[in-house]
Amino acid sequence: MTRKILICSAWPYGNGSLHLGHIAGLLPADILARYFRLKGDSVLFVSGTDCHGTPIAVRASQEGRHPREVAGHYHREFVQNLTALGFSFDRYAATMDPEHQEQVKAIIVHLYREGWLYPRVQKQVWCDQCKQFLPDRYVEGNCPRCGAAGARGDQCDACGSLLDPGDLGERRCKLCGEPPGEKETQHLFFKLSGLQKEVEQLLAENGRNWRVNAREMTRRYLREGLQDRAISRDIDWGIPVPIAGYEGKRIYVWFEAVLGYLTTSRRWAEERGEPDVWKEFWNREAISYYVHGKDNIPFHTVIFPGLLLAMAEDYNLPNRVISSEFLTIEGKKLSTSKNWAIWIPDFLENYRADALRYFLTVNGPEARDADFSWREFVERNNGELAGAWGNLVNRTGSFIQRYFAGKIPGGANPEGKQLLEEIEAVFSSAGKAIEEGRFKEALKLAFEQIRACNKYFDSQAPWQTIKTDKAACAATIAVCIHAIADLAVLTAPFMPFASETILKALGLEKVFWQAQTIPAGTPFTKPGILFPNLDKEIIDKELAKLGS
Ligand code: MF3
Ligand code: ZN
Repeated sequence: MTRKILICSAWPYGNGSLHLGHIAGLLPADILARYFRLKGDSVLFVSGTDCHGTPIAVRASQEGRHPREVAGHYHREFVQNLTALGFSFDRYAATMDPEHQEQVKAIIVHLYREGWLYPRVQKQVWCDQCKQFLPDRYVEGNCPRCGAAGARGDQCDACGSLLDPGDLGERRCKLCGEPPGEKETQHLFFKLSGLQKEVEQLLAENGRNWRVNAREMTRRYLREGLQDRAISRDIDWGIPVPIAGYEGKRIYVWFEAVLGYLTTSRRWAEERGEPDVWKEFWNREAISYYVHGKDNIPFHTVIFPGLLLAMAEDYNLPNRVISSEFLTIEGKKLSTSKNWAIWIPDFLENYRADALRYFLTVNGPEARDADFSWREFVERNNGELAGAWGNLVNRTGSFIQRYFAGKIPGGANPEGKQLLEEIEAVFSSAGKAIEEGRFKEALKLAFEQIRACNKYFDSQAPWQTIKTDKAACAATIAVCIHAIADLAVLTAPFMPFASETILKALGLEKVFWQAQTIPAGTPFTKPGILFPNLDKEIIDKELAKLGS
């Protein structure tokens, strides 16, 4: 039976280029999408650019441009970069798309009519210097929960608590540094407090299939008790609140962006001319994966499920939450303002997507923070990709070309049969690991077999048997090329470009997640270099760019 798999990866803000930290958090989504498609399941993989909110508005005003231009510019750049990195979205949208905005407005009106949204006059932080209400992230101060300095009005990065700017001690305006005052304003509030039981039930039912960080953080919010939250803001860039009395206000960016998963799924279905098929991915029989960095957790495990529950359509709630830890760069916390970051447009000019995808999986922030260092990137690229995997394909291909007239030979010996059986078993062990969000382990299982196959090649010494016993040599090479076909499938979710090249060279255009059969005599043209070696000199060159 084919399963319906919904994969939702976080929407990056369109206020600056993508960097390695973004990709570390999003990559698991594409690995999942590719894996499930290979399994023969039905996949809907959606995301988009988060276009609204203060950072974009502030950047636009600094640059004397309209926020739409800024968001549009980065949206186009994201589409290019994500495509180059192999992201295989079924639909990648933008929150400023009119279709998204219209659907969000309809949902807000519905929730208002059903009594889930109510008005409340509140004091809000107002900066007299800047003559504006300050958005949450532009108020800084001390966290009321853990006491850390530098907490933002929306969230404390030190302890992860969701905050209201009013809670902070010793507040400062982030724009001008002055202590801001307060002014009254009316906002729409979402009755999240009325969903405590339902979210508790969600955690009890699905929590064991979430990453530990998501489970723990959600448990904490619930223990503190869910609070009603304002869903409108005094800002002029965003989706207008479609209710009388809120003219000039906008929907808080987080509340509309998370709805993008739903609006984009519907839009995808409409464009296919099957306007109802999205429902198959949103009912309770479907399996949903939510993929993001750990700073996104409460929005995906509490607020978004809260909105879905309030909509009362019996939508499926997050089954699996893949929330990554953070990626440090050369041992230091990533900081875009200090340029302590590796930018994707720059990276893609010099290096291959597969090399990055490999590194960010074997050394990704899966269960704890992980570090990217150029030295390790070069070493792993040269040792594991070029040295082990690339070399296996290369030397096997050379034999086929030179001694077997470019056609795959037949035969197998007992050691070879055993090797192929062991590789075949990895389809189920690695598949299970991927489905459970253990990507490192899955890739490790495949690479153990790459090493085993190289060892087999060496122990068989085909460069000798070609002179003494051509049938034995043929058997060795036949085993290796079959192993390569299987390994190309096993590594395809991680390194799709190299796998596609290998499989194409074998005439295997449409493959499934299983051992491959290739008849003897099938032509094979050795592919060009799959994983170029990286010169050690790039390490210093790249290090010099950091922080400058
Ligand atoms: N833009 C947010 C971030 O970069 C993520 C939004 S995810 C969404 O942290 F689902 F809300 F869109
Ligand atoms: Zn100010």
